[in-house]
Amino acid sequence: MSRIARELVEGAGLDVNVLTGKLTAAAGDELATFYHYAILSCHSVGLTDDGLREIIRDIRAEDLIHFDELTKRVYELDGILPLDLPGLVGRGDLSSSQTPDIRSPDDLIARLLESERRAIQTYTHICDVTAGKDPRTHQLALAILNEEVEHEAWIREFLGEGQGGRFRPGFRGRAPEVRRATGQDLPPAHGFPSS
Ligand SMILES: [Fe+2]
Ligand SMILES: [Fe+2]
Repeated sequence: MSRIARELVEGAGLDVNVLTGKLTAAAGDELATFYHYAILSCHSVGLTDDGLREIIRDIRAEDLIHFDELTKRVYELDGILPLDLPGLVGRGDLSSSQTPDIRSPDDLIARLLESERRAIQTYTHICDVTAGKDPRTHQLALAILNEEVEHEAWIREFLGEGQGGRFRPGFRGRAPEVRRATGQDLPPAHGFPSS
């Protein structure tokens, strides 16, 4: 927790309580997405092939990292997350406490793309409000935004649309943009131990 970080951001003209509210809502969305995707990746057995389930698991892994980093930034700004889970999940645009009822592969794809679309909207907005005022939050939001765009690309690649994602299976799921933005080393890719 840092009073200085809060004062600097306030001095740049941002209402820190409003900003931490947006970051908290985004963190709730990430945690809800992690939870929903964990269920969907199991629930989808028989509904879709292993390739899409792998993508869902990789997105889920990155969303958990997003949740962690957003939480840290809220506390750096002298904010606090709700101590009860229901107080966190359900604040944002995206999260509902209910995992969607998926009955067909089309339902699943539509749900995944809608989830990524809303995440892209959320981080575009946070990037806009922090530009030139809070470089640290801006850098984090931009890194998450890039990864949300990448998530959509993975799904579209699976559908045979678009240019495809930059990261192949085995390299996905490690949140490279967010790790770089927060000064962390990238862990070895799953199945590709470092020599
Ligand atoms: Fe995310
Ligand atoms: Fe995502």
